[in-house]
Formats: sequence, C-alpha cells, structure tokens
Amino acid sequence: MCPIPPIKTSTATAAPEQPAMTLNLGDLAPDFTAETADGEIRFHEWLGDGWGVLFSHPADFTPVCTTELGAVARLHDQFAARDTKVAAVSVDPAESHRAWLADIAETQGAEVNFPLIADPDRRVATLYGMIHPRHDDTATVRSVFVIGPDKRVKLTLTYPASTGRHFGEILRVLDSLQLTAAHQVATPADWQPGQDVIITPAVSHEDAARRFPDHRAIKPYLRLTAQPAPARPGNDRPATT
Ligand code: BEZ
Repeated sequence: MCPIPPIKTSTATAAPEQPAMTLNLGDLAPDFTAETADGEIRFHEWLGDGWGVLFSHPADFTPVCTTELGAVARLHDQFAARDTKVAAVSVDPAESHRAWLADIAETQGAEVNFPLIADPDRRVATLYGMIHPRHDDTATVRSVFVIGPDKRVKLTLTYPASTGRHFGEILRVLDSLQLTAAHQVATPADWQPGQDVIITPAVSHEDAARRFPDHRAIKPYLRLTAQPAPARPGNDRPATT
C-alpha cells in the first residue's frame, strides 16, 4: 500500500525572524579578497593608510545603479582630494560587471574609475550585512560604509533599492569626519563645508581658549568656531558638489 502523503494545510507559520548581523560604528571593517571587474582586490591592503568608502548596489544593468556608479565616477577627484578610495559591490559576477561598464560610460558621461567588486557567493555582502532578506532576499541593498585610516567603521547608511544615494552627502560626511579626527570639532545640523563648527565637549575651556581663541561660547556646552583648515595636503578649500 502506498503511504498516505501528509496533508498540507494553510496554517503553516513563517520561520521566526532571526536577528541580522550588524556592523556597528567603531567595529573593524572586515577584510576580504574578491574578484573585481578589473582583477583581484585585497581590501585592507588596497585601502592602505587612507580613508575608504565601500558601497553596495542591488544589481548590474539596472537604472538607479547605473546613475549611481556614474555619479561616483564623476566625483573621483573629490574623493581623491579627501584621501579616500571608493569601491562598489554587488552579487553579480565580474563578467557581468565588465559588460555593464560600457553602458555606464555611454549614458553617464564618465568611465567607472574605481573597483567594482563581484560577490556572487555573497561573502562580502554577508560580512557587511548588505542583504536585508525582508527587503530583498537575494540582492544587496544600498549600503554605505565609510572606513577610517584605522580600518574602523566611521559611518553606515542604508537606502532601499528604489532610492539612489546623494554622494555629495557622503563627501560632506567625510569632511566632517576628517575635521573631527584632526581638530576635535564636530559639525552642527545641516552644516556645509566652510561654515562654523562646534568645539567638542572633550576640549576643556582652557584648551578651547588656547586652540580656538576666537570661538563663541553661546552656552558652556555650545561653543562655535570658524572651520579649521581640513588636514589634507594640497587641498585647502571646501568642495562643492
Ligand atoms: C535600480 O538600480 O534601478 C534598481 C535595482 C533594484 C531594484 C529597484 C531599482
């Protein structure tokens, strides 16, 4: 006799949601070796002693991603002026990346001039928590990681697939992070390069008087001063985007 197959009912419950792996500010940015459209990348070695931006996009040959990679290519000199290397990653293979490059150059007015990392086995995406299964269980979301010279994560951003990022904002954050690293200043809401900055609470009033003699103390905890020069060889002006 044939065994009676189990009856399927519609009461099956979804698997419980598992907490996702998250990379927090201050964590060491995971190192990896991967293929790119243009050869192998050893991530930490490639970063060297400067700053880095690693950003993911959902898929090759898609419209928003095409505009994003073009936008980053056009900003190459702005990232270089901030001693910052940029790399993009998606779960597509290297040959797909290579085939897509011509379309980006044709439609976006710039050739991709940074590594396009291929991640078909999702190793990089998993290390960096770039797949958010309840948004899309196969493709990467639009993640951004800014990585400092100490290889630690300084900023994370996550956008949905349907919203292209504003890369001028990433440059603005780099300006803020680099001012903080060099001068112990923070940047207020809606700050733009060249505007006044805030002396961080870690700086004593005595040190503030010595280091920022023209600062204005609106409250003991709210001390404003002119933006110090960015600590960048050969680049002494705020960028505009
Ligand atoms: C895009 O890049 O256009 C895109 C990719 C995935 C989902 C939606 C849009």
